[in-house]
Amino acid sequence: MEILILVDNKASPRFRAEHGFSVLVRMRQRSILFDTGAGAALSHNASVLGVGRDEIQVVVLSHGHYDHTGGLTWWEGEVSPTLYLSPYALQSRYSVRAGQARPIGMPAEARAWVNSLPPDRVVWTTEPHMIEEGCWVTGPISRSPHEDTGGPYFLDEEGRFPDPMLEDQAMWVETEEGLVVISGCAHAGIVSTLEYVIRVAGASKIRAVIGGFHLAHASVARLTYTAEHLARLGVHTLVPCHCTGEDAVSFLSRSLEGRVVTGEVGFRLSF
Ligand SMILES: [Fe+2]
Ligand SMILES: [Fe+2]
Repeated sequence: MEILILVDNKASPRFRAEHGFSVLVRMRQRSILFDTGAGAALSHNASVLGVGRDEIQVVVLSHGHYDHTGGLTWWEGEVSPTLYLSPYALQSRYSVRAGQARPIGMPAEARAWVNSLPPDRVVWTTEPHMIEEGCWVTGPISRSPHEDTGGPYFLDEEGRFPDPMLEDQAMWVETEEGLVVISGCAHAGIVSTLEYVIRVAGASKIRAVIGGFHLAHASVARLTYTAEHLARLGVHTLVPCHCTGEDAVSFLSRSLEGRVVTGEVGFRLSF
């Protein structure tokens, strides 16, 4: 199997960078797109990398934020892939800072496209679900109280109802060298995500974890907790992308020497 980053905050000039994340997972039988970026970068980067829409049979959405779902409009008017998502991914949500609300849910055009799909093209992920042999989506992830996964996220524009982003989910692929875990923003917490995957998959070895770890505003205590637990879990390779945050990447690189490789558009992992 091969993993190829199509959208990320980081990209060399021949690609388009944006605040978003999307990764192509090429399995033996088919290709799965995990998240779609915010919209503008996906089709451009895919064409530079020689990835066509017709190659992708399955799209998994980690959660409903615009920077993971906006690229769904790539399929407008085309034969649609099968979409794996939580019903909560469709809800309206906002970032509220200093009384200013900004919508950060799935863009209206993407939501309309999802709503137009025939029922047999949608799989609602309310629990762990096998996409194909050795390739799973987690469904909602059990969380540990030790990871502060809060933020300025609300279900209303007034900022009264915190958005727990309960739908946040990851994917895992079984390889001979251990599990490869892919996270979107890891709103459930990256340690909780890995612990959940290990428990549900009944595995002990994590070969690699790739994706957004959502540590940009994390305290030193949380970074320390994260590094200690990634070491305890024996994660062989970490590929922090998207919303991990530069300071967090430096911290993890120092704490987990030799195990951190920074991701960007065009980055590949093969097993
Ligand atoms: Fe994100
Ligand atoms: Fe997010």
